[in-house]
Amino acid sequence: MQDVFACDRSPDGPRHVAIIMDGNGRWAARRGLPRLEGHRRGVEALRRTVRAAIELDIRFLTIYSFSSENWRRPAQEIGDLFGLLRIFVRRDLADLHARSVRVRFIGSRQGLPPDIAGLLGEAENVTGDNKGLTLVVAFNYGARQEILAAARAIAEAALRKKIEPGVLDEKSFEAFLETSDIPDPDLLIRTSGEQRLSNFLLWQSAYSELVFMPVLWPDFDRAALEEAINEFKGRDRRFGGLAAQAPSLKERA
Ligand code: FPP
Repeated sequence: MQDVFACDRSPDGPRHVAIIMDGNGRWAARRGLPRLEGHRRGVEALRRTVRAAIELDIRFLTIYSFSSENWRRPAQEIGDLFGLLRIFVRRDLADLHARSVRVRFIGSRQGLPPDIAGLLGEAENVTGDNKGLTLVVAFNYGARQEILAAARAIAEAALRKKIEPGVLDEKSFEAFLETSDIPDPDLLIRTSGEQRLSNFLLWQSAYSELVFMPVLWPDFDRAALEEAINEFKGRDRRFGGLAAQAPSLKERA
């Protein structure tokens, strides 16, 4: 039997993969199914992807599961997405914990139903000491909002004379982001053929390799993830310099 915990990441593989899981609605529409069915199959694709990420020894997987802008969708669909998050956390938490996955949520908890906010906290507490894959779920997340919140906190700290504006640099700014303890994504994948970032990890993806794939998210699987990783491995990462494989700012810090 295949050992699902086998370490087969080659040294040049991505340590952090971020995914914009797009195309659930189109997947459903092509089959004459309700959008909810596309989202349900999207959760199954997420389960497959988490397992594949563990098998491929990816250390951080960040998924965009509800954006600040998704509030513009009909109330019914918002309720469905919240329902799927509830199911995902309740049903999958024990399995994720058993696989030593550390679950983190980024995004605003304001405006979320209280039971959801409680569930997110519970998942983080239960898995907080795990040493395997870190699964970062961006829920009610928007990168501009994250950067604005950091700017606001920095301005307040400066008013209290806790920060000297003149010495603020990238490293000290990053300390105010929700992802301060997470390395920047090496590889950012968007499914469904759309080619934009949609307010996802705008600061952190400054030097990420972007891979846009036609596959609709419910059809995503280990083979698709490996395809994206192979594309990544063929890229020449220079981080603005000349030498390939130069370390990221956070790694250098
Ligand atoms: C994009 O598809 C997907 C989303 C807005 C939500 C992603 C959600 C899941 C994969 C399932 C829920 C998972 C959790 C953990 C809550 P779309 O609806 O924009 O598709 P379309 O562009 O084809 O309409």
